[in-house]
Amino acid sequence: MKNLISMRDLSKEEILHLMDVTGKIEAGKIVPNMQRKLAALLFFEPSTRTMFSFDTAMKRMNGDTIIMSGTGQTSVKKGESFADTLQTIAQYSDIIIMRSPVEGSARYASEVVDIPVVNAGDGANQHPTQALLDLYSIVKTQGTLENLSIGLAGDLRFGRTVHSLAQAMALFNVKFKFISPSFLKMPQYIKDDLKSQKIEFEEYENIEDNIDDLDVLYVTRIQKERFADPEDYEKLKGSYILERPMLSNVKENLKVMHPLPRVDEIHTDVDNTEFAYYFPQAKNGVYTRQAIISILLGEVR
Ligand code: NCD
Repeated sequence: MKNLISMRDLSKEEILHLMDVTGKIEAGKIVPNMQRKLAALLFFEPSTRTMFSFDTAMKRMNGDTIIMSGTGQTSVKKGESFADTLQTIAQYSDIIIMRSPVEGSARYASEVVDIPVVNAGDGANQHPTQALLDLYSIVKTQGTLENLSIGLAGDLRFGRTVHSLAQAMALFNVKFKFISPSFLKMPQYIKDDLKSQKIEFEEYENIEDNIDDLDVLYVTRIQKERFADPEDYEKLKGSYILERPMLSNVKENLKVMHPLPRVDEIHTDVDNTEFAYYFPQAKNGVYTRQAIISILLGEVR
């Protein structure tokens, strides 16, 4: 593994190895040391969890970070090209972790610089480090990744987290329910991929009638910033809200996950049920990102 750009680049073995390393880091059995290592966090889109958990991960390992949040104070404003900015940052740092609204930008960056690049979200395309922390959260709560029933709900069209997660879970004989308004359905290229891998999925528009047989319900925010026409967003906002009474007949082992930020799609009355897992899920992001950085920098094999 030289870069982490798309879930499609990872084999099942590599994913399982990452899960194993993440578990050992959480348990304190592996203590990676990133002293004198510097991660450059380039975030051209807003972020709370991804940016701060990468920052935390690096600092927990005695490493350090430099952070570019937006382009406001940098020479990008003077007209410097993306390629020149990247090549400069690569002179100072050991690894680049970047988020951008432009699909394919992380792949492009990995072709421009010769240090590892991690995709922390490229437009509506991919968010592989989120998928890995989601997988870790699933294995931690369900004891396995194999043969699970997983519901993906909300914005399946523009949500990059569900694209990466669907591709990752396809390696584990998953059964999917895709729950979304018809405007926000899972893209055809992902469904074609799943079909070619013989993965079962069904599409629904309504949450409450379709969650009782799930092991994981993964809820996502409607991605307002990706809508070409704000009126389309206005029509759909608030149309998917998970509320506590809907959970009365679900399986005991159900976990409700969410990459966060939440807008209104999970009512806060779900937060103190045994099903809610979105905040521990965010914590798992630190261990997962420690594992990702350690493997990419050759500290852990
Ligand atoms: C997600 C993202 O940026 O794609 N957030 C995250 O990284 N946890 C989800 C979202 O913004 O809805």
